[in-house]
Amino acid sequence: MTTVDSTTGPRTDPADATGLGEIERGAAPVHADDKRMINARTDVNQLLPMKYHWAWEKYLAGCANHWMPTEVAMQADIALWRTPGGLTDDERLMLTRNLGFFATAESLVANNIVLAVYRHLTNPECRQYLLRQSFEEAVHTHTFQYVCESLGLDEGALFNAYREVPSITDKDTWALRYTQALSDPDFRTGTPENDRAFLRDLIAFYVVFEGMWFYTGFAQILALGRRNKMVGIAEQYQYILRDESIHLNFGIDCINQIKIENPHLWTPEFATEIRGMLHEACELEIAYARDTMPRGMLGLTAESCEQYLRFITDRRAEQIGLAPLFGQAENPFPWMSEAMDLRKEKNFFETRVTEYRTGGSLEWD
Ligand SMILES: [Fe+2]
Ligand SMILES: [Fe+2]
Repeated sequence: MTTVDSTTGPRTDPADATGLGEIERGAAPVHADDKRMINARTDVNQLLPMKYHWAWEKYLAGCANHWMPTEVAMQADIALWRTPGGLTDDERLMLTRNLGFFATAESLVANNIVLAVYRHLTNPECRQYLLRQSFEEAVHTHTFQYVCESLGLDEGALFNAYREVPSITDKDTWALRYTQALSDPDFRTGTPENDRAFLRDLIAFYVVFEGMWFYTGFAQILALGRRNKMVGIAEQYQYILRDESIHLNFGIDCINQIKIENPHLWTPEFATEIRGMLHEACELEIAYARDTMPRGMLGLTAESCEQYLRFITDRRAEQIGLAPLFGQAENPFPWMSEAMDLRKEKNFFETRVTEYRTGGSLEWD
């Protein structure tokens, strides 16, 4: 049912915004121009006609990148992990804390999508991508289960690291605040205050969590892989990195589209607040990088990691229309962008890469 509010204009009632409301018999089809990212005025169950083609393109790209962690051979990793002195003590500490962060981070991101974002992002093509992303987060969590099982790690310690390692707890606590703000079952977008709470959540999870905090971890593991160590995990991280770069870009497109449709939300005060969020997030990540690598290793130092994080933070700020925070124009790890090109690195790791065959299960006798 559509009502007209004098301040926000016509909008569907909250039940219709979820797509679970009563079906209005005989109502006209949706016009693409009427679709909105938040506070939908149109039926959220009608994918076509499409408005946000960028969301659909990302859904197709995610499907084309399908992979499963169990397709990656782990024998070399298992042998190296079990060899006394195969990894240095610093490398073991880094690996354990790195895996410890990711083991639950993927679930936190998935919970935020399914339990907070999906309900309020009232556009069917964006929801289509969120469904794909949710599955990818399940694949990523599966990766850490598979690594844990393959290496025979202490599963309690690995999956409880976010309660036991303070620098991980600090990051997760920071992000959870933003999804908790949306967790009240009566929370609805539609007021500037609540629409900004939703934007803060998108920024905390897409820009910070997936766009900044995953990147120290990627750099650490890919640095190991480049030295021919833990090559199975390094290959899995490459696949995760490829997925995450699409998640990040989807989040940035969503934030910028919401800004375009709701320019009143992005006040100078709000922009200042968001810059403060990015600054805090960068400091939390620098503390985590020091915690995972108390001494320099693998060509990474605390100083180069800080530079890298400042470079990433500036890049993320620019992507959502904010001025750089640090002016860190130079990327101290240029090989990270190379590592995102799987074809270039595939031969380097010398592991088996499975070309995923889609549709194989449809060949019936
Ligand atoms: Fe993920
Ligand atoms: Fe993700």
